[in-house]
Amino acid sequence: MGNSKSPKFETTTLWDYPTQNYGDKPHGYNKYSGVTPAFVIWNLIQRYTKEGDLVIDPMCGSGTTIDVCVEEKRKVIGFDIVPFRNDIIQADARHLPLKNDIADFVFVDSPYSDNIKYNNHPNNIGNISCENPTFFSELEKVTQEIQRILKPQKYMAWLIGDQSKRKVFTPVGYRLYEILTKYFMPIDWLCVVRRNQSSNTGIWHYRAKKYNFFLRGFKHLLVMKKIKKL
Ligand SMILES: C[S@@+](CC[C@H](N)C(=O)[O-])C[C@H]1O[C@@H](n2cnc3c(N)ncnc32)[C@H](O)[C@@H]1O
Repeated sequence: MGNSKSPKFETTTLWDYPTQNYGDKPHGYNKYSGVTPAFVIWNLIQRYTKEGDLVIDPMCGSGTTIDVCVEEKRKVIGFDIVPFRNDIIQADARHLPLKNDIADFVFVDSPYSDNIKYNNHPNNIGNISCENPTFFSELEKVTQEIQRILKPQKYMAWLIGDQSKRKVFTPVGYRLYEILTKYFMPIDWLCVVRRNQSSNTGIWHYRAKKYNFFLRGFKHLLVMKKIKKL
């Protein structure tokens, strides 16, 4: 931590990154739809883990968590319903092939609706709209699985956006917070500015003004602690 290529260590709840990546090596694949800013994972593991700790990402997409953790000397296992690379294990985030209480930290950047077409796998949660209550019952199953694999007194963080579509606003981050606090103690609620999203174009800014709606400018980063076994 702290060499010239390292990201800034965040001390406030507002995290704003101009690019997906830092340094001179890729962390994940910056063209993967919905890729996580590598800075987010770097900051979380500085705060909530130490070298040698085991980090799990149950929905690891293009592998950003794996790349950041390996570089920072954390052990890491990444799962996805459709693995993007060979070092990602195929699994459903609701049924991870892991023993109870083994993870030192869990990071998850899940779908927040059916807005991004990740794949056609029947168990891809990103094929369910957040306007459908099933979306939240499936996120609750992921929550229960994270609670099962995390060691007591350890932390998890979940990055998620909201949806406003055809005048229907769904406060996905708030609803997820309500689910998470059934299983974990809340530690903090951070805001990650969205950059380079597909709606950051002239036509979308024009529509947002003309039809009187807001483009999404940030995502929620919810940090929780496992106090005890259920
Ligand atoms: C926002 S992306 C993750 C991005 C990733 N953190 C990165 O930096 O590339 C969400 C991922 O969740 C995966 N996913 C959806 N449903 C899943 C499920 N039931 N189990 C595991 N992964 C799932 C999708 O395939 C997609 O790769």
